[in-house]
Parts: sequence; structure tokens; C-alpha cells
Amino acid sequence: MSAIIEIKNVSKEFRVLNRREGLKGSLKDLFSRDYKTVRAVDNISMTIQQGEIVGYLGPNGAGKSTTIKMMTGVLEPTSGEILVGGNVPYKNRTKNAQEIGVVFGQRSQLWWALPLVESFRILKDIYQIPDEKYESILKLYRSLVDIEPLLHKPVRQMSLGQRTLSDILAAFLHDPKTVFLDEPTIGLDVAMKSRIRTLIHALNKERNTTVILTTHDMGDVDALCRRIVIIDKGRMLYDNDIGHLKSFFGSYRTLKLRMDGGLKEQAKLVQKELPGFSVSADDEWISVLVDEEKAKIMDVLGKLQHSFNIRDMQLEEISTEDVIKKIYEEGVQ
Ligand SMILES: Nc1ncnc2c1ncn2[C@@H]1O[C@H](COP(=O)(O)OP(=O)(O)OP(=O)(O)O)[C@@H](O)[C@H]1O
Ligand SMILES: [Mg+2]
Repeated sequence: MSAIIEIKNVSKEFRVLNRREGLKGSLKDLFSRDYKTVRAVDNISMTIQQGEIVGYLGPNGAGKSTTIKMMTGVLEPTSGEILVGGNVPYKNRTKNAQEIGVVFGQRSQLWWALPLVESFRILKDIYQIPDEKYESILKLYRSLVDIEPLLHKPVRQMSLGQRTLSDILAAFLHDPKTVFLDEPTIGLDVAMKSRIRTLIHALNKERNTTVILTTHDMGDVDALCRRIVIIDKGRMLYDNDIGHLKSFFGSYRTLKLRMDGGLKEQAKLVQKELPGFSVSADDEWISVLVDEEKAKIMDVLGKLQHSFNIRDMQLEEISTEDVIKKIYEEGVQ
């Protein structure tokens, strides 16, 4: 194994205007400006091996996108060192661009008015992809997704899901060593999320591409990442296997329940009945996180049976979702 990304003590500060309130304040701002410094990334170090899929996680504003922008050469770090495939990204931007691919979930990198196949041809020229290699990549794509209906569609006529799919295919087209995906499944329906995950997984396996992925969807993490890095307020909280993280919460289990009535409304009532427990609901289940060192599952269930008509139940290990939620709330002890 060899390191493809090395980050040492990297920080990024932004100088932002301290805005004063009201009209008077705005007028004052015009004449004398009062700046403050925001430390978006604070002394982060990590080494990533070729072929890894790393989940780069953290709550809103944690500094994930800022880190990705530094790794892709869009931003220069305030201090510290970054090497991506041996390049200093912000110094060797052209060289770095040859060896990486980038997808930002919120906006497309493709040519809006052009059919996808035209975008591919432009990328083929830019990256000087030889004909044979280009054909073999298209062949691989055809085996992984149904791309024919997409190829001749202008990007602006695509649905969000089709566009994301196209963006990912475009990012992998020149066979980069590393692909950065910043929230690739944002706004997508369940079926499309699953297709995107399968695609990313297959491309990583086929080409041994390193993937750095940021997401707020723990389904992405479960499907793709063995290693996760968690940051908050710019600082590193955790860097290890997801399994290792779950072992911190060995005494926790998730009690999943189905009951009569709307799940969201019922979950609120369950929460009232069980103050101090973490209760949530998805499309299928109401979940109650139980720390068995503090409460017995049977006692919790007994208590709920008095007030609710429980139709079905399941007991599961703590979910990735719950683990990450607890880390965001409490940190790693
Ligand atoms: N260009 C900028 N100028 C000033 N502050 C910025 C700039 N870009 C980011 N920040 C600040 O840096 C911090 C980290 O932002 P960043 O976008 O990296 O977070 P994130 O982890 O990607 O969050 P999210 O999950 O919401 O996408 C935030 O406080 C943000 O306001
Ligand atoms: Mg972000």
C-alpha cells in the first residue's frame, strides 16, 4: 500500500467582516471595517492510502468542504502541508487536476447546454485520453449503468439524479487516482441514492480509485466506507474504522417498533413517555436507543406497551446514524 494523500497540521482561516446591525451599523461598516478570523480547519493531519474509500464526516459548518477545496487546489491552506499524489494541490493545479476528479453535489461541473456525450468528448480532449482507453471506459460505464438514455440528453434537461450520475461518470472518466465527492447523494430519492452508491463502489473496485466522500447520509457511509474521519469546528474528532467506533457504544442497542398511527406523531408521544432516551422515526420504524447499562430493553418495552399498540418490533445493534449523532452531541470519550 502507498499513501496517495498526506495532510500534515493543516489549518485554514478566513477573515470575515464582523457586520454591525441595522442601518447605522451598515453605514459604519462602509467606513471602518471590523474583521474577525474564522478557523474553518484547525490542525488536521491524516494519511490516505491508494484505493481507500474514506467518509469525511461532521456537522454543518465543520470544515469538510473547506478541507476538500484545499485538497483539490481551490483554496490554499493558511498553514500546514498537503500532498495529493505527490503534488502540492494549490501550487501544481494543472498537474493535480490530471490526477483527481471532483463532484460537488450542489452544482454540476458539466456543460449545461451540451448532451452528456459532448461533455465527455471535451473531457477526453482536455485530459488527452487515448481512444482505446476512452472506449474501454465507456464500455465499463455501460456495464454498470444504463447510460444510453443519458448520453444524448443536454445536462440542463436532466433530473437531479441523472445529473449527479453524469457528474460522477465525468469525474471518473480520465481514470484519476483520487475522486472527491462532496455530498453526492444530496436531494436524491432512495432508489437513486442506491444506484449512485453501487456505481461508486464498483468504480472504486474496478479502478482502485481512492474516494474521499462527505455526506450527511449515514446510508452512504454504511454502503461505502470502512474508514471514517469525523471533524467538528475544524478539529479532528475521530479517524479509524467505523466498527471500532461502534465498539465504544457496545452497551447500546436500537429498539425498533411499529405501531398504529403516523410514525412521526407516535415517535413524539414515545419520546414524551421516555424522556432522556433518543427517539427517532423513519419511513418504516420508530427507533429508541437504549443503553443497556442503564435500562433493560424489557422494561422499556413494558412501559411502552401500557400506552401504545405495538404491532411489530426488532432489536438491532446501534446504527451508524445513532453512533455519529452521539459523537456530534458528545464527542469521543
Ligand atoms: N469563503 C469563506 N469565507 C468565510 N468563511 C467561510 C468560507 N468558506 C467557509 N467558511 C466558513 O468555514 C466554516 C466551515 O465551512 P465548510 O463549508 O467547510 O463546512 P462543511 O463541513 O462543508 O459544512 P456543510 O456540512 O454545511 O457543508 C463555516 O463556519 C463557514 O462559514
Ligand atoms: Mg460542505
